Amino acid sequence: MTETPIDALTEAEAEAELARLADLLAEANAAYHTDDAPVMDDAAFDALKRRNAGIEARFPHLKRTDSPSEQVGAAPAEGFGKVRHAQRMLSLGNAFTDEDVAEFAARIRRYLNLPASEVLALTAEPKIDGLSLSLRYEGGALVTAATRGNGEVGEDVTANARTIDDIPERVEGAPEVLEVRGEVYMSHADFAALNRRQAEQGSKTFANPRNAAAGSLRQLDPSVTASRPLRFFAYAWGELSAPLAGTQSGALKRLASIGFSTNDRTERHETVEGALAHYAAIAAARGELGYDIDGVVYKVDRLDWQARLGMRSTTPRWAVAHKFPAETAWTRLTGIDINVGRTGALSPIARLDPVTVGGVTVSNATLHNEDYVAGRAADGTPIRGGADLRIGDRVEIYRAGDVIPKVRDVDLPARPADAVPYVFPEACPDCGSPAPRDPGESVRRCTGGLICPAQRVARLKHLVSRPAFDVDGLGDKEVERFHDLGWIAEPADIFTLEARYGAGLQSVAALEGWGEQSAANLFAGIEAARAQPFARVLFGLGIRHLGEVAGQVLARHYGDWDSFAAAMDHAAPAAARHHAAEEAERAERAAAAAEDRRAQVKKARDAAWAGIAPEAKQAWDDLVGIDGIGATLAVAIVDAMAAPGERGAIDRLVPHLRIEAPEAVAEASPVAGLTVVFTGTLERMTRAEAKARAEALGAKVSGSVSGKTDLLVAGPGAGSKAAKAEALGVRVVDEDGWLEMIG
Ligand code: IVH
Repeated sequence: MTETPIDALTEAEAEAELARLADLLAEANAAYHTDDAPVMDDAAFDALKRRNAGIEARFPHLKRTDSPSEQVGAAPAEGFGKVRHAQRMLSLGNAFTDEDVAEFAARIRRYLNLPASEVLALTAEPKIDGLSLSLRYEGGALVTAATRGNGEVGEDVTANARTIDDIPERVEGAPEVLEVRGEVYMSHADFAALNRRQAEQGSKTFANPRNAAAGSLRQLDPSVTASRPLRFFAYAWGELSAPLAGTQSGALKRLASIGFSTNDRTERHETVEGALAHYAAIAAARGELGYDIDGVVYKVDRLDWQARLGMRSTTPRWAVAHKFPAETAWTRLTGIDINVGRTGALSPIARLDPVTVGGVTVSNATLHNEDYVAGRAADGTPIRGGADLRIGDRVEIYRAGDVIPKVRDVDLPARPADAVPYVFPEACPDCGSPAPRDPGESVRRCTGGLICPAQRVARLKHLVSRPAFDVDGLGDKEVERFHDLGWIAEPADIFTLEARYGAGLQSVAALEGWGEQSAANLFAGIEAARAQPFARVLFGLGIRHLGEVAGQVLARHYGDWDSFAAAMDHAAPAAARHHAAEEAERAERAAAAAEDRRAQVKKARDAAWAGIAPEAKQAWDDLVGIDGIGATLAVAIVDAMAAPGERGAIDRLVPHLRIEAPEAVAEASPVAGLTVVFTGTLERMTRAEAKARAEALGAKVSGSVSGKTDLLVAGPGAGSKAAKAEALGVRVVDEDGWLEMIG
């Protein structure tokens, strides 16, 4: 049966359709709950419910007294669908001081190689404290609205977005494909009124406008969203079939002209001083705006420069958020708890008498590490004038935006007479294993590894988290619960959960707070999480120092799991040698007489590496030769892959996954796979830009010419590298030749 789109329904048709849906849904409900004989699957049921809610949102006065939206006891609607963003949704780097902003501009000038005489114009606009949304228009009609999610995949909130007045259903004179990005937010006045209403109805109130906006947009029932006063500012875009303008400011004007709300405090400035003055003006006006902002965003005005600047892994080089200073409050430190992290790090957490800081109630704050509690920085210099923190102290809390609250200061005169210094544990509070502090480290680490329940749980949480496997329906709370039940102890267990606890008396569905539907949703989320990009698998392992960027770099370098694992196995003996060499070098440096120090140090190093299998040395050199992979990370990976307990868990996990090969970084590009060296002065681009471009096109950029070099790009003044390349028969091109090659 084909259904008329909601937007095309006449009022009479809508009324008839609501009646039909009420019948269908009531029947399905009865079949499911009373007869235990479902007449349709959950997805179909949810689709009908969504359609019903969508029609109600468009024609609120037609909502029936027996509306299926109001029915309790019905199968809970499943979560939102997923939308893959055509272009990644980025976040922003932060600046906190005027100097940071000046450095941002200077960095751009260096990157683009701009002479001092060239004007670098920036736009400066309020940073709205809401949540970002991407709106896709095709042929002028809104087709999808998606939250940011993890930047690559967001939640489909189209039906909800259609209920927001600032979001046009149709736009005239826009490119065929237009993705508009901006912020959904709630005004102070609307927030206060909503909370009043919620309180009157005995419903939960929201901590701040941002939470209220997020909670309202992420409603499974669009008629609820429709009843919430949300607004939208457009400030960026994603995929476009034709450019909007040549500049950021021009593009904003264009968006405004086709019907979007843009922020009227956006200004274009030709100097950093001008932009900073506008920051000060926005900060001064903050209280009168009527909505929350948490800083000012500066963007390079010229879009051709934005394109050249490109992005780092998750943030653009051409924009930065200048955050307002943190907000602070005083309260009492009632306790210090120790949290054991994924890599065993013992982190002290402050328990506080609840206090409102910048509109949010804070009852916990991070205390960083042992030294921070004691009143010293990592290098031993005093912080807070050397004052330690004791339970019972009055402390100053601060937080800036999303950042975890921190303890900044202590009121020594107010210290209770009986307060005693805090003794930091030297053993893991969770498993009792020793928790030593390595030389030069500020952190104590539990040595229990995977026998430590706290580390196991933290690793599981990391694995299912958004930037890693992003398992729908499996969050921190659920991981803790299943772990406490003894149902999951290691990553592989997640993927066998359904086989073991999918049905029967002892099953997920039978747990308190769960049911057939939510259990089915969980298992579907787990099923979907089997398919993972290689980079996420590497990141998800939770190896120390192995972050998202390193995951991407390693995935690109090794290509697939088997090659990676084999290389780490080969390199295993080298990690120990590296360690020994470092130790030997340290010892030698301390001991050797000043004059022959260098030779001694080298001898000690060489001795440590003597007799290593060439295969091991090669695998090791290859690993540490990867741009972005340092020796510390290399040791951590190789050691993790060689530790029997850890490797066992990894080897049990991998067969459950479908690991996706890294995106062929423009495999079609003529330079993909080539090892390229840049030398001499580049005139059309800077070194950093050249490198980033080359890597984006799949080339490997190396700093020195060797037998492995495929291409040398030589600018004027190329010296020994050009000569060496010639001697080795390596192809040499000049900058123009390179630009021609890459088109
Ligand atoms: S530009 C590629 N402009 O801040 C740049 N972001 O901290 C995309 N935000 O994810 C963002 N106001 O949700 C931009 N005027 C503004 C903004 C803004 C608020 C949010 C946005 C972004 C986050 C990063």
